[in-house]
Amino acid sequence: MAVTASGETGGDWAQRTYEAMAPVYDDFTAHYESEEWIADLVKALERRGLRGKRLLDVGCGTGTSFLPMLKSGWEVTACDISAAMLELAREKAGDGVQLALADMLDLPEFGEFDLVWALDDAINYLLSPEELQQALAGMRANLAPTGLLLFDVNELQAYRTFFVETTVVERDGRRLVWRGTAPPDVAAGSICESKMEIAPGEVLTHRQRHFPEAEVLAALGGAGLECLDVYGHGLDGIPSQPLEPTHTKAIYIARAAA
Ligand SMILES: C[S@@+](CC[C@H](N)C(=O)[O-])C[C@H]1O[C@@H](n2cnc3c(N)ncnc32)[C@H](O)[C@@H]1O
Repeated sequence: MAVTASGETGGDWAQRTYEAMAPVYDDFTAHYESEEWIADLVKALERRGLRGKRLLDVGCGTGTSFLPMLKSGWEVTACDISAAMLELAREKAGDGVQLALADMLDLPEFGEFDLVWALDDAINYLLSPEELQQALAGMRANLAPTGLLLFDVNELQAYRTFFVETTVVERDGRRLVWRGTAPPDVAAGSICESKMEIAPGEVLTHRQRHFPEAEVLAALGGAGLECLDVYGHGLDGIPSQPLEPTHTKAIYIARAAA
């Protein structure tokens, strides 16, 4: 597996970050309109013939994205590299979900799923095109023959704004400070960091890589997947086509190549 100069994979970085961030993660993301976003993503999947109700959520975090699926009758298996995030997911979801500690760079074959997804930045914690292809190959191995894969990636616009700026979130007397450290003209394919202060003097690092569309398409092909759709959206979270330079996120839908 390709590793960065530090000798650490994206999984190593993400695990450290999310073990520390877990207690404040839901506070930091409380303003997200996740249910509406998920509903729009499911509509996009339905336009591509989504059938069945078995979901594998890769990088599930505290369960924000799979909970609406669970409510609408999906059978959910979910995994994450952070045990602390999974513990919070368990508290919310109860025993109705199969949860596993797993690195998407070494994804077990959990079964055959009608839908495999990795949402809300999970993919951007991978740090090279080789890691991306490896993770996608693991997801492909979990797809049912007619299954669909969906994931989002942050676009350059996000790294040139959110990863440049300072954002403060105050909730229940807690103050979380996100300090982007990227230059405003950061180049495509760069690794960007943000320092996040979760308590006075307690700072963790988010380390993410931007994946340009050409790299994503090459990684999908290399993993034996065929791209069906690319959508983009801005801060409103409403997917549209085509993907534009002003979009902060891209959404990819794929299936196993014939
Ligand atoms: C921003 S959170 C999103 C959580 C969830 N997908 C959601 O939609 O709310 C990103 C999650 O990806 C997980 N993650 C990052 N890299 C991972 C990896 N290599 N393997 C498994 N999980 C990973 C992190 O631990 C974290 O829980």
